[in-house]
Amino acid sequence: MKTPISCAWLTLFFLFPLGVAAEQPSGYDAARWDPIHFQPQIAEASDEQCLACHAEIIERRPLRESPAGVKASDTLAWYQTTPTYEGPQETFHRRHLVTDLAQELMDLRCNTCHQGSDPREEAPYPPVRGKTDFALRKSVNPDTCLMCHGQFDYKIMNMPGDWNEFGHMFQDNCLICHASIRTTRHQVNFLKPEAIEAEAKDSAEACYGCHGGRSWYRIAYPYPRHDWPGMPKAKPEWAEDRPKQSAARFFEGTDTAAK
Ligand code: HEC
Ligand code: HEC
Ligand code: HEC
Ligand code: HEC
Ligand code: HEC
Repeated sequence: MKTPISCAWLTLFFLFPLGVAAEQPSGYDAARWDPIHFQPQIAEASDEQCLACHAEIIERRPLRESPAGVKASDTLAWYQTTPTYEGPQETFHRRHLVTDLAQELMDLRCNTCHQGSDPREEAPYPPVRGKTDFALRKSVNPDTCLMCHGQFDYKIMNMPGDWNEFGHMFQDNCLICHASIRTTRHQVNFLKPEAIEAEAKDSAEACYGCHGGRSWYRIAYPYPRHDWPGMPKAKPEWAEDRPKQSAARFFEGTDTAAK
């Protein structure tokens, strides 16, 4: 008695969804909820996969002129006047992915910053009353940004003040110290360590650019503290809680994981 019934159920179970699944969901909602936006898929996604739908991220350009006629080239922000800033104004994404400096020193991918975001957690439009814990933004972890946009931590470097003011005491050259201190650096999949060192031989601008020169934050990033050849045995107090390695997701595809 039991067997025929479960058989019938089984048949229903298998046949019914098959008929539905044969047609791939498509359209705006399906794309918006595409599992590639969520963990674990997003961690493995290639830029090409994202760009198949989001080509605008690379293609979009800022206006050359505002509707009132103010030219973009006349309205440079302070950080756009630094010696490393090249070419006309570009979008945020292009400055991190395709402009000269980005390509030379960095190898950022979509998922270096985008680790998944859930539309359900975002503030809906029109706004709703009551629930106040919605994210207003597209949830990129600001710690990722802080790594390259934090303050120059002059105190732990035993300097009297910021690099801007006191760099000249060190010939405006980070390598005066960093040719022998903390030399195990940048072994992560979103940077190009050799190119960074080569660039720094001529000028500290490149180094400072990611370590204080474009600081959008009032705090410094607590970097991992990798062992380096000849490091002193005694650990400074501030370094007690520092990890000895970069975050695991950053060394996929580098030699560091093997070490
Ligand atoms: C099948 C097409 C498709 C693919 C592939 C895709 N997206 Fe999307 N994505 C969409 C659509 C559609 C939306 C909703 C856009 C809107 O509402 O303006 C969206 C929204 C987003 C948003 C804004 C999310 C929000 O919460 O408002 C981000 C960020 C995003 N995608 C990043 C990515 C990244 C990174 C990848 C690759 C890992 C990716 N997308 C792959 C179609 C896609
Ligand atoms: C340097 C970090 C970073 C990288 C690399 C990056 N994004 Fe973003 N992305 C952001 C931030 C930050 C936002 C804006 C979030 C907000 O509005 O709050 C954003 C917004 C978006 C949005 C929402 C629409 C928009 O224009 O604001 C999409 C879609 C998106 N990114 C896709 C991508 C894709 C595809 C790639 C790879 C080709 C990529 N991003 C690479 C940080 C990044
Ligand atoms: C790996 C280092 C790195 C990371 C991570 C990074 N940035 Fe940047 N960012 C840079 C560099 C380098 C530039 C300067 C590019 C140039 O001048 O061509 C820059 C430029 C910018 C600019 C100025 C863009 C312009 O056109 O004027 C903004 C704003 C910015 N970053 C915000 C962010 C935010 C927000 C995040 C996190 C989502 C982030 N950055 C993550 C390295 C980084
Ligand atoms: C006077 C020597 C000196 C100069 C010049 C110098 N640094 Fe440092 N730096 C240090 C010392 C000392 C430390 C801490 C070493 C340790 O971990 O014990 C350090 C640590 C760092 C760290 C790691 C901070 C952390 O929180 O772990 C960064 C990043 C850094 N320096 C960047 C730079 C950059 C970029 C320049 C040039 C713009 C520069 N330094 C110039 C001495 C110097
Ligand atoms: C394109 C941005 C960028 C540039 C240019 C850059 N750095 Fe960094 N630096 C980073 C990031 C991001 C990290 C953290 C990486 C990680 O997670 O291990 C870092 C880490 C460090 C550390 C900590 C090392 C450790 O123990 O792990 C030191 C010291 C440092 N940088 C010094 C320098 C010096 C000196 C230069 C110039 C030769 C320089 N940086 C140029 C982005 C940059």
